[in-house]
Amino acid sequence: MSNAATSGVNGIDKILYGGLPRGSSIIVEGSPGTGKTTLGVQFLYHGAVECGEPGIYITFEEFPQQIYQDMRAFGWDLRELEKRNLLRVVSIKPDLLLKQMKTPDGLFEQMIREIDCQRIVVDSISLFQYMNKNPEEIREVLYILKNIFRKHNLTALLISEHRKSIDDQISFEHYVVDGVIHLSLEEQMTKYRKRTLEITKMRGRKFVEGEHIYRITERGIHLIPALSIVDDAIVASPNQMTTGIDRLDKLLSGGIPKGSSIILDTNSKANYSFLVASIVSERIKQGDRVLAMPSSLNGIADTQRLYRLFDVDLEQICRQKGMYFIEHMDREIPPGFEEAVLDAKNLSNEQYLSYLKEKVLPVIQEGVENGENWFLYYDLNTKFSVRGADFVRRFFAEETAWARSAGVTVFALCNFAEITGESASYLERTSNCIMRTWVDGNYQYLQITKSPSGKVSEPYLVELIPEKPYIQLV
Ligand SMILES: Nc1ncnc2c1ncn2[C@@H]1O[C@H](COP(=O)(O)OP(=O)(O)OP(=O)(O)O)[C@@H](O)[C@H]1O
Ligand SMILES: [Mg+2]
Repeated sequence: MSNAATSGVNGIDKILYGGLPRGSSIIVEGSPGTGKTTLGVQFLYHGAVECGEPGIYITFEEFPQQIYQDMRAFGWDLRELEKRNLLRVVSIKPDLLLKQMKTPDGLFEQMIREIDCQRIVVDSISLFQYMNKNPEEIREVLYILKNIFRKHNLTALLISEHRKSIDDQISFEHYVVDGVIHLSLEEQMTKYRKRTLEITKMRGRKFVEGEHIYRITERGIHLIPALSIVDDAIVASPNQMTTGIDRLDKLLSGGIPKGSSIILDTNSKANYSFLVASIVSERIKQGDRVLAMPSSLNGIADTQRLYRLFDVDLEQICRQKGMYFIEHMDREIPPGFEEAVLDAKNLSNEQYLSYLKEKVLPVIQEGVENGENWFLYYDLNTKFSVRGADFVRRFFAEETAWARSAGVTVFALCNFAEITGESASYLERTSNCIMRTWVDGNYQYLQITKSPSGKVSEPYLVELIPEKPYIQLV
């Protein structure tokens, strides 16, 4: 048996990477009408019918008839499951249930054994709150429930009516249980209602954070995970090029796809130099030929120092014609790099373009035809400021189209906040992969917001580490 109990709602299992941890007690809280009862019964119905796991539904209402009737609307015949010993609907007073639970081998434990119960729903534990005014007693009740469920390895959903006021009782409930699923119903565009589910706690299991929208359909609750989840399985392919950063490779399903145009959207506060150096130095080590455009901030000498940290001697690489630079700034060219630098600072746009077309592209084209891999790295902001937005936009589109067809990979650095929204959205459409890194408060984040496979990732924290590649994603 897997250690996860599938919930009966596909989307919930997805955001929990499999399902609910077995033997755990999980609060399902929400205001009236959010679908708590529906979710609880769906969990039991799915368990009984599809997993062969019998369950118990405990209601404190006097007449369970209402439940049978309401659930029939979803096509769930609970009486039929009871006949097959796959379900028990128990209508009981809260104090009586507690008394039974406290009695060793009482009626409650007998019933669990009778049907080999695996799942349980208590609808709702708020009744205990109305019964006992004393928070100490309510805490004890929750411990009793949790312990007896744990003893029988039951996966339990404890339904709770969420109260807006943040009183002590709500917060301590959350401490006692293993997990909390919060359902909410918000107004959307004044006329519509948006139903969202958020997991705020789940012991022993990772989950996709944030609000996920769900609908109540004729087949019960249907939840759509907010971000399409990146598969951890890597499809290693010779066309995926490693970035040198483990988790980033995983997020990119193995690495940067050869022939793609990838943009790193960053701002000056974020530390992106390690990220760029890791990606480019991996290319150099693999024997790719690199054409790079240094940014206005860091010249060739700075680049040379940075790459030494990645065990790459740029001077030697340049002497071997493994790397070329396009220099737009008036900076000193370090010795040994003279042959590898195209001095573009005095070239007009027209001259620059014709130089690229006549001198640079044919070399790349010929190399590609001879089986070389080429990798282009640009600082688009520098290009924007030197060449102008119109030029960049026109050229970038042409270049990415050409690169894709030639199998040349283009990696561009760009601060979207520094260019017009129109240019940014244009670049976004033109490239087929976008990584964003930004600083929020005292932390740096990185997120894939566009990828060739159509997947986006959650935001990861960027942590500096003392050894190569000097950053890791957490
Ligand atoms: N067949 C159906 N199709 C679509 N929506 C439905 C259907 N049946 C019920 N609903 C929706 O589900 C809501 C009730 O769900 P449910 O009874 O599970 O909520 P609850 O959170 O348990 O509410 P309460 O706190 O009142 O017990 C209804 O308000 C209705 O909007
Ligand atoms: Mg209900």
